Amino acid sequence: MLSDTVERLLSELTLTEKVRLTHGATDTEGAAAGFVPGVERLDIPAVRFSDGPLGVRTDEPATAFPASTALSASFDPELARAFGRSLGREALARDQDVLLGPGLNLVRVPHCGRNFEYYAEDPVVTGRFAASVVDGIESTGVVATPKHFVANNQETARASVSAEVDERVLRELYLPGFRDAVEAGAGAVMSSYNRVNGTHASEHEELLTEVLKDEWGFDGVVMSDWFGTESVVGTANGGLDLQMPGISAEELVESMSGPGEESEAEQDAGDERAQAPDSDDAPDDPIDGFGYADGMPDPRTGGLYREELADAVEAGEVPESRLDDMVGRLLTQLDRHGLLDGSRDADAPEGAVDTPEHRDLAERIAVRGTVLLDNDGVLPLSDDADVAVVGPNVDEAMLGGGGSSETTPFAETSPVDGIEARAEGSVSVARGIPRIEDVSLFDAFEPDDEADADDSDVSIDDAVAAAEDADAALVFVRDQATEAADRETLALPGDQDDLVEAVAAANDRTVVVANTSGPFAMPWREDVAAVVAEWYPGQAHGSAAAAVLYGDSDPGGRLPVTFAPEDEYPTADERRYPGVDGAAHYDEGLLVGYRHFDATDGEPTYPFGHGRSYATFEYRDAEAVDESTVALTVENTADRDGRTVVQAYVDSPAAPDDLDRPPRELGGFGSVALDAGESRRVTLDLDERAFGRYDDADGWTVDSGAHVVSIGPSSRDRPLDVTIER
Ligand code: BGC
Repeated sequence: MLSDTVERLLSELTLTEKVRLTHGATDTEGAAAGFVPGVERLDIPAVRFSDGPLGVRTDEPATAFPASTALSASFDPELARAFGRSLGREALARDQDVLLGPGLNLVRVPHCGRNFEYYAEDPVVTGRFAASVVDGIESTGVVATPKHFVANNQETARASVSAEVDERVLRELYLPGFRDAVEAGAGAVMSSYNRVNGTHASEHEELLTEVLKDEWGFDGVVMSDWFGTESVVGTANGGLDLQMPGISAEELVESMSGPGEESEAEQDAGDERAQAPDSDDAPDDPIDGFGYADGMPDPRTGGLYREELADAVEAGEVPESRLDDMVGRLLTQLDRHGLLDGSRDADAPEGAVDTPEHRDLAERIAVRGTVLLDNDGVLPLSDDADVAVVGPNVDEAMLGGGGSSETTPFAETSPVDGIEARAEGSVSVARGIPRIEDVSLFDAFEPDDEADADDSDVSIDDAVAAAEDADAALVFVRDQATEAADRETLALPGDQDDLVEAVAAANDRTVVVANTSGPFAMPWREDVAAVVAEWYPGQAHGSAAAAVLYGDSDPGGRLPVTFAPEDEYPTADERRYPGVDGAAHYDEGLLVGYRHFDATDGEPTYPFGHGRSYATFEYRDAEAVDESTVALTVENTADRDGRTVVQAYVDSPAAPDDLDRPPRELGGFGSVALDAGESRRVTLDLDERAFGRYDDADGWTVDSGAHVVSIGPSSRDRPLDVTIER
């Protein structure tokens, strides 16, 4: 149902004006990732779109929040809602109307270069976090854009690969997060670059029109990913409403180099391209640079709505009613947030960036998402311990991975800053090995000056000497991940493993703090005293690390992804990943992440849901409250405050016809903070989908019989069982 205002505008807009509202243009302010000019005659304002999942990305600084995986590792959707609201306020302060996030593709492949922008290998965790972030963003009057719809689970060949995945698997694993985000009120959804079962996601009528719009009732805007279209008529008829960024390849070059500054070389490159679009012998050509690692779409394909859509409508190839629907959807979002009459949502907060609350939240998320993987008692550190802070990048904060989520903060704390500010003992610093460079798809346009940094003064010997003299050695290691490319290996880059080995040999109280996008290889695991997964902690890196290492805060995080040796993941098969002949076959079906390790009795290095507290907990007295709720008592049995994450897994009765099911599925969870000695009754709501399965003929189906719900602090530690009869 369109509002009267939107109906009126649709009747007054000309065909040309309507088409202008179906595609982007270059931002007149040069700050937004996307821009749709308004229609002045009818007081329709311009709309600005900015990334992204980790912070507001414009040409000005903003709070650089931790990676999405750090957020989900908190297992606390309330924190996610607060984060979404802060993100919305920062967007408002930067005059942005639409946020290009959250990213919520399921973590199917541990190597995927964008996993740090996503939440989990599990659809319930993904859905709850996506919904909370959407709710927070939308509560500020800013439109949220869950992305990338759908099955965009790898960056290798992301612009061309076809995810070959059957309907049941799509419905049970890859679609639920989007549905939850839509139900939470997302005003937009971004289609992905890849194909799904052969059809490009931007023109997938079954997914965009039949599932998303007709079945789920989504009345918002489906926008393309940037240059992520392959046709005009196909996308419009398939259900795409907004083509982004809507500019030509030449305008792209101009916007990268600044208006009017296009060099002669770039002009020549442009001319050459016109004659030989597939030529790759112009390495300095920024558009060829756009082909980074095979992961970016070609901006010269896909056609432009602005030139072709009006003709297609006039020729009857795209019904005019479809064009009205496309425009009506955008106007509805503007109307909903009061942008058509300038009233903004009455309850929307003021825009604000870099407030004390946002800085505090950035640190809190980093702390709450930190996962203590192993600890032989070295942590927490005592206040007066003499510590060595070691690692190639200890003098800089790990803000995030590369790509459209990169955010520039006002201020950041490095590990050295954080430890020095907290330690009461001495702090020695040794980088040990050359810096691990940030990687970014933007390198093709803006080469990183740091690449030439002088590393001649670093040596492992210095790190060993520092470690020998210290009570504890803290080694910070990191991976390299970026949009548009996958990690080639889960091994840490550079000589970091050698560094850890050498330090561990010199000090048996060596703690490894890992700043990674996901699982990583730990050949030295048995030789160190503690391992901490800190993901990408954002601007508060150092202070958050210090808070956890010294025990000022309990490490609140649990693993939202399984850590295992790389050849034991279900995607360790070329046909599945990165795919063969342009297709990635999702042959593992439902057995992604812990579902796979459970089904195969595999032994992960650290299972899904794992993470340690400095306190200890007892779980007891579980009962089924009703057919989708369980309750139990949790007691902190330690003499210090702490936090545990209660997890409930559903094992449903066998499905008819021997239909395979995963051994168990996460149904619900809750992060519980308890003072020393405190106990509390905790109630968990279980997701209906954990009881059900998607049946091709009947849709979501719950089989009758005993559904056993097992409860505990990780997927591999579930001391309590209750049975729910359905
Ligand atoms: C990314 C999107 C992003 C867009 C705009 C694309 O490269 O895939 O996630 O929102 O750029 O920056």
